[in-house]
Amino acid sequence: MRHFINLHDIPAGDLRKIIKDAKKRKTLRNRLKNLDVDLDAPLKGNLLIQMFEKSSLRTRLSFYLAIKQLGGSTLTLRPDELHLSKGGESIADTAKILSNFGNVFMLRTDNDAKLEEFKKYLSIPIINGLSPSSHPTQILSDIFTIEEIKKKQISKLNIAWIGDSNNVLNSLIAASIKFSFVLKIGCPKKYQPNKNIMKYINKNKNKIFIYNNPRQAAHGADVVFSDKVISMNDKVNKKNKLNQFKKFRIDRKLLSFANKDCIFLHCLPRGAEVDEEVFASRKSKVWQQASNRIHVQKSILLYCLNKLR
Ligand code: CP
Ligand code: NVA
Repeated sequence: MRHFINLHDIPAGDLRKIIKDAKKRKTLRNRLKNLDVDLDAPLKGNLLIQMFEKSSLRTRLSFYLAIKQLGGSTLTLRPDELHLSKGGESIADTAKILSNFGNVFMLRTDNDAKLEEFKKYLSIPIINGLSPSSHPTQILSDIFTIEEIKKKQISKLNIAWIGDSNNVLNSLIAASIKFSFVLKIGCPKKYQPNKNIMKYINKNKNKIFIYNNPRQAAHGADVVFSDKVISMNDKVNKKNKLNQFKKFRIDRKLLSFANKDCIFLHCLPRGAEVDEEVFASRKSKVWQQASNRIHVQKSILLYCLNKLR
């Protein structure tokens, strides 16, 4: 049994295995419908319990289909319906029940410590479906999408992130170190990665660059990423923060500094950080990006349950 909480805790070889497995499985499903089960049904009889403390559309649906396609089933819990939040039942007791009834637990939380606390008491794997500090299933899936489109290993590509220093960027930074790719970050000085993340960046290979000018970050990029300036539960002066990011909005002009065949990715939902022209353009691969979450999460589930081929 293995947990999937943060990319930096998972060996690079294991992350690569997950991507390879997802590729094989996706190809094998060519003609199947969303709810058709993979021929080998490797998770037959298994229950995924998912709980969302924050809103979700893509993660919820993609995990639902992922476990179904592997032959298992899912139950989605709302935290406000559990004794955990309402009646003060402990995480330890909740974890015990989850472990007896389910086979894997996926948690989207507004508190990183909760993932660790659950991990301590669960005897089944836990998957981080987004926390304030990271979004690992999203980024692993995005690497899959990039390699699928570019038909090259990500280590041979230049990746740019133009936007806020948030959970998604933190996982992209961890991925840059694990998969050894160049990552250029463009953001206002005030919104650069925090001290802990900077320490992590500096301790590792010198492939990550930070610019306060979006054009420098976009220069020579094969992939340009962005995300909402205001994340869920972001406790800031929204108007002020949005103003500071105005120059960082992704438009045709900014993309002209990237490579000609660059692609645009965004985990969604979106805000004003990208204009409609770029979002709807041929460079934008956001729908393929969202759909691939199903395939990669299937292989993450298999990895956690020691069933990766
Ligand atoms: N990208 C992503 O995680 O989307 P949801 O918040 O809709 O799950
Ligand atoms: N950074 C965003 C990602 C949403 C999928 C947030 O945390 O709200």
